[in-house]
Amino acid sequence: MKKKLIKNTSEHFDTLFHNKPQHIFLSPGRINIIGEHIDYNDGFVLPAAINKYVCIAISPNEDSKCKIVAKDLNEIFEFDLNDALVPNSDMWINYILGVLQQFKEKKSLDKGFNAVFSSTVPIGAGLSSSAAVECGFAYALNKMNNFNLTKEEIALIGQKSEHTFVGVNCGIMDQFASVFGKKNKVIKLDCTTLEYEYHNADFKKYSLLLLDSNVKHTHLTSGYNVRRQEVEQGLTVLKNHFPEVKTFRNCTEEMVNSVKQELGETIYKRSHFVVKEIQRVQDAVNALKASDFKKLGSLMTETHYGLSKEYEVSCDEIDFLVDSVSKEKTVLGARMMGGGFGGCSINLVEKGSENKLIESISKQYKTAFGIDLKAYKIKISKGTTEYKN
Ligand code: GLA
Repeated sequence: MKKKLIKNTSEHFDTLFHNKPQHIFLSPGRINIIGEHIDYNDGFVLPAAINKYVCIAISPNEDSKCKIVAKDLNEIFEFDLNDALVPNSDMWINYILGVLQQFKEKKSLDKGFNAVFSSTVPIGAGLSSSAAVECGFAYALNKMNNFNLTKEEIALIGQKSEHTFVGVNCGIMDQFASVFGKKNKVIKLDCTTLEYEYHNADFKKYSLLLLDSNVKHTHLTSGYNVRRQEVEQGLTVLKNHFPEVKTFRNCTEEMVNSVKQELGETIYKRSHFVVKEIQRVQDAVNALKASDFKKLGSLMTETHYGLSKEYEVSCDEIDFLVDSVSKEKTVLGARMMGGGFGGCSINLVEKGSENKLIESISKQYKTAFGIDLKAYKIKISKGTTEYKN
């Protein structure tokens, strides 16, 4: 699939620009084992890059003109780097313009480029197709201009592009995972310091299976930004009562419970989820290290119910998928993944049981919602890179 993506993207470039692209970059989507909605709450997360990619075929120009082609959408956007870059009504280009704007602010970016990109990361499925685009372009511009930015700087550029040009106030997890991904490793990322460590993604007799609800989300209209405001309110109350609290990481469940009245029902639920989820990630890393997959699975399922009932970022379709697989003996754990309000569930299942499970859940899902389920058996792969033949 990767080879085909590269071939098609590069041939499309050749057809449009009558030349082979000088560079090809691959930037992956991501999964997250556990630690949801806590990257912007100073927690830890456990993501990994996967073998679904945005492929960018690109060549620099002598002048400042840029031509960017979104092959899958059959759309072209042309502009001059010397013009003011502003958010556009065509959403897809904003992920890239936001990146370019930062390069313009940080470095002298005078050479334009021609680019074609295409993707096997499904859009709106919670696999961070947007971070893959942002980081792919940031990585490409860094390489082509010899700017020598670090991987961390590239991830931060991707995140800021999303804040400034897309309008989603996201955390750092997606961009970090896309850039720092490593084959067969999950990344334990400390979202406060951006320190990270790799852990073996060796699930022994088990595998990770994604079930795509086919309910598309965009975090611009979802409750994502609202959640960020809610937890901020919660933290302010906690800080007022407990001077030692700087972030949710310093909070205990007891502290949150003690100010329940003042927080009010909604903010209490959000804050309670965050504190519990921060702890769950630590427990999950220990379970993974000890190959205690039963424990890991049950933590994942606990996360789901927290996200669904307390953080309220799930939806009926994903709840149905999690409830249905949880009844199966071959499934150790399941939960919604990513920002939520649709997208995929991630499931820890017995190896060899995947096809039967997919078949049975697809039928149930179709009967309940009339929607065709998609399933992805993913591999954990390396992060954003230049592809060389
Ligand atoms: C989206 C955001 C991430 C993160 C997740 C939820 O994917 O882009 O920063 O907050 O949601 O964990």
